[in-house]
Amino acid sequence: MNKNLCFVLSLILCLECVYVESIQHTQIIHFKSDLSTTRNDDHHWDLLLFAQHWPVTLCRSWTTHTCKKFNETWIVHGVWPTKFGSIGPEKCNSSWLFDPDQVKTIEQDLEENWTNLESDTSLYSFWIHEWSKHGTCAASIEPLNSEFKYFSQGLDWHKKIPLTMMLGEAGIVPSDEKQYKIIDIYYAIKNKTKVNPTIQCVHVKGAQLLSELHVCFNKNLELVDCDGVVSPKHVIDGVTVMTNCNPAHDVLYPYSVEPPARVLVQLYKLSSLLQWLTL
Ligand SMILES: *[C@@H]1O[C@H](CO)[C@@H](O)[C@H](O)[C@H]1NC(C)=O
Ligand SMILES: *[C@@H]1O[C@H](CO)[C@@H](O)[C@H](O)[C@H]1NC(C)=O
Ligand SMILES: *[C@@H]1O[C@H](CO)[C@@H](O)[C@H](O)[C@H]1NC(C)=O
Ligand SMILES: *[C@@H]1O[C@H](CO)[C@@H](O)[C@H](O)[C@H]1NC(C)=O
Repeated sequence: MNKNLCFVLSLILCLECVYVESIQHTQIIHFKSDLSTTRNDDHHWDLLLFAQHWPVTLCRSWTTHTCKKFNETWIVHGVWPTKFGSIGPEKCNSSWLFDPDQVKTIEQDLEENWTNLESDTSLYSFWIHEWSKHGTCAASIEPLNSEFKYFSQGLDWHKKIPLTMMLGEAGIVPSDEKQYKIIDIYYAIKNKTKVNPTIQCVHVKGAQLLSELHVCFNKNLELVDCDGVVSPKHVIDGVTVMTNCNPAHDVLYPYSVEPPARVLVQLYKLSSLLQWLTL
């Protein structure tokens, strides 16, 4: 009797044990499948990051390329499908090759506004790169499911998000001397678009240069906050700003590709003066 009870009890305990384990197991399996969806072979994405760059900064920062002539205006870098908390997906269909004929009718616009700034590479190389890396992933939604639609959308957003004008209207204009606060750049975009952008800087010879501004669109191609994309965040004046720029320093929005000699002349004068004073 006692033995039997003992047996039944241990059986129940054991079954419970197995049951609990199986729950944990399925949770683990579930968790694992969550993880596997973040692998590179998964092409899911949440929003489109629309990246524009400032050609002057790009040309100042290059050491291995020479720059084409360009107009002093923000141009498209890319339209990048992005999964929250990660970079990419990228290169979603290696058999879908860029075909120049598909964008013949918008080639002028692309040349001027989605420019390959590298003077030492072929005209199409930049678009080949953007298409294979990002376009083939964006093509998973109907409004962007062809090369023509993808590049036209980038050009359309370039017209809808005129950064040169948006910054200019906030008094932020290219200059080799005046520097700007990151929060002012943030508000210049935020107040016009009503969404949170991301602000990118590069550091060239000790100066912090404004390089890129990103705004985000959802799969209905509506503007949305870029919150959720991978970016350093800084709280500035109580506002969370997504930026890789160092908010402790102001930002140069450079006017000329070569830092002007005038500054050097002034430095020279200053150093001569100092030398003279210390003699
Ligand atoms: C990849 O691109 C090719 C060429 O456009 C197309 O036929 C094919 O259906 C695409 N594959 C996927 C998985 O989308
Ligand atoms: C380039 O973009 C500007 C500003 O949106 C536009 O006015 C211009 O027509 C575009 N260039 C071409 C060749 O379409
Ligand atoms: C600069 O803009 C003008 C007027 O929109 C255009 O005709 C010219 O082709 C542009 N130059 C470059 C290098 O994009
Ligand atoms: C943007 O809006 C904020 C808050 O409403 C305001 O303080 C700021 O002056 C505005 N800045 C620009 C550049 O429009």
